[in-house]
Amino acid sequence: MRFSRIVVSLGAVLSGSTLVDAFWRMPCRSRSGLARIDPLVSNGTISEHAHAIHGSDGFSTSASYESLLAGSCTSCEVAQDKSAYWTPAMYFLNSETNEYKLVEQVGGMLAYYLLYPNSGNTSLSAFPAGFEMIAGDTNQRNFTYPVPDIQKSLWNVAPYNTQAFLRQAALGFNCLNYAITPEGSLYRHFLPDKAYLDAHCTDGLRLELMFPSCWNGVDRTSTDKKSHVAYPSQVMTGDCPSDFPERLPSLFYETIWDTYAFNGINGTFMMGNGDPSGFGYHGDFMMGWEEDFLQQAVDTCTNLSGQIEDCALFTIQDSSVYGNCNVTLPSAIAKENVVGAVSTMPGNPVIAYGPGYASGAAAGGNSATATAGGVAGTTQSAMTLSYSAGISLASSESYVPGGIFAVSTGASFALSTAATSTPTSSPSVAATSPTTAAAAFVAASIVESAGPSYFSTAYQTLDPNTVEEILWLEEVITVTEASTATVTVPARKRHLHGHRRGGNF
Ligand SMILES: *[C@@H]1O[C@H](CO)[C@@H](O)[C@H](O)[C@H]1NC(C)=O
Ligand SMILES: *[C@@H]1O[C@H](CO)[C@@H](O)[C@H](O)[C@H]1NC(C)=O
Ligand SMILES: *[C@@H]1O[C@H](CO)[C@@H](O)[C@H](O)[C@H]1NC(C)=O
Ligand SMILES: *[C@@H]1O[C@H](CO)[C@@H](O)[C@H](O)[C@H]1NC(C)=O
Ligand SMILES: *[C@@H]1O[C@H](CO)[C@@H](O)[C@H](O)[C@H]1NC(C)=O
Ligand SMILES: *[C@@H]1O[C@H](CO)[C@@H](O)[C@H](O)[C@H]1NC(C)=O
Repeated sequence: MRFSRIVVSLGAVLSGSTLVDAFWRMPCRSRSGLARIDPLVSNGTISEHAHAIHGSDGFSTSASYESLLAGSCTSCEVAQDKSAYWTPAMYFLNSETNEYKLVEQVGGMLAYYLLYPNSGNTSLSAFPAGFEMIAGDTNQRNFTYPVPDIQKSLWNVAPYNTQAFLRQAALGFNCLNYAITPEGSLYRHFLPDKAYLDAHCTDGLRLELMFPSCWNGVDRTSTDKKSHVAYPSQVMTGDCPSDFPERLPSLFYETIWDTYAFNGINGTFMMGNGDPSGFGYHGDFMMGWEEDFLQQAVDTCTNLSGQIEDCALFTIQDSSVYGNCNVTLPSAIAKENVVGAVSTMPGNPVIAYGPGYASGAAAGGNSATATAGGVAGTTQSAMTLSYSAGISLASSESYVPGGIFAVSTGASFALSTAATSTPTSSPSVAATSPTTAAAAFVAASIVESAGPSYFSTAYQTLDPNTVEEILWLEEVITVTEASTATVTVPARKRHLHGHRRGGNF
């Protein structure tokens, strides 16, 4: 059984704010397509490389906001979300056979809608109708900053206070090994090499992508699909550049790829856009909600559980519905073998090792220079970044690499016993150590300790062997107001999750 766990540090709980770091995670457990379709880059034509696609079946090579909304279904769990979410697919080049095979996805995609308002503000703008954007750069092939990242508190000077840096810091390649404390999100910004994946990432690789959340307030799109938006100063959190004052939901994609299925086989992983480095990882988003509805959801779906079930507005679909929502493929690629084994990846993109900028098709770029096939650059000596545990429940003060997502001690999930018990409605398990807290979580929804409080949600994916749990770490902080007394801000209302879906964990 696979079990992944994410701890989200809520940070400070401040009074007077109605929208404090709430979020919801949109599960898109089923893929609506795996195909060379990319309306943001190649509108009206077959795209250069293959994508894993999630969302509305109104998606197509020439999709528009209207066509997404007019779709008959969505592969995401909320019926009102007709958005389209896509990233390049991942392939494995077997060096013995010289053939490529698709690396399978595990559990589809999760799209987090993180609700971080600008400081001094309590509201967010919904994505406007017709909004679209790309995060990442398909042609990027190097990373020129120190590895690992320096502390975010030091990102206020060059080169860290540039969009160029933030754009690359928005990519994460999380080496999954559920037997040890997981790495923090957005810790490693490139694809680890095969030997590293074999040696350490026994549960695969989680690709993470943070989208820009600062908007110029005017343009729903732009030629390069990027320049109408910008990253806040710390990628997920922080302040928006002054030209991009409107704060949107912070969109964060997670997809897990079963790299370990190729354990012991010689070869190279690469992204479907011809990128063996990972620096060119990217993702696309086309908004497919009714704008007013999304605004209402952003304003009111602030239950800290992050579960879509806790938003009364959302219509939750059954897996028989979202699991049967396929994009119709144009005839030119209807029979394309995107799974393998094949001698070239779909579309036969140039395999560009870098470090120079590659020349694939990019929105607003010169796609005419994109040539099919071949290899550009030399085999890059792989960058390495060894394992580093994410934040542990005991050390919430420590630096969390990359972002708010940090992952707890995972060594003793005690799934075999605890997981089968029903969460009780009034748990009060003293957290004497992080391990105790982590283990207890499965049985008890809330563990309280003298310090932070922990919140948990758990659920099972389409794949009956995959269980995910998300933990919230809430800190109660003391705020000293200017001339008055010290005010201790109470922890947010604790809520319990007896909630459970699709049983069998
Ligand atoms: C693609 O082109 C069609 C037809 O011109 C247009 O309706 C649609 O909005 C375009 N899609 C994108 C994502 O630009
Ligand atoms: C607060 O943020 C919203 C969303 O970005 C924006 O529309 C509004 O103007 C902001 N309010 C203030 C007072 O800055
Ligand atoms: C992988 O490559 C190494 C070095 O070339 C070789 O010794 C080994 O036999 C290969 N393994 C497999 C499974 O082909
Ligand atoms: C949040 O959701 C939980 C169930 O996960 C529920 O018990 C609780 O009442 C909700 N809180 C609010 C404020 O709606
Ligand atoms: C959707 O596509 C998948 C993968 O190609 C296929 O297995 C499934 O049967 C399709 N479902 C429908 C309803 O067409
Ligand atoms: C690294 O990538 C940038 C594009 O982001 C490019 O301009 C630069 O030349 C590359 N560096 C090297 C050493 O190739």
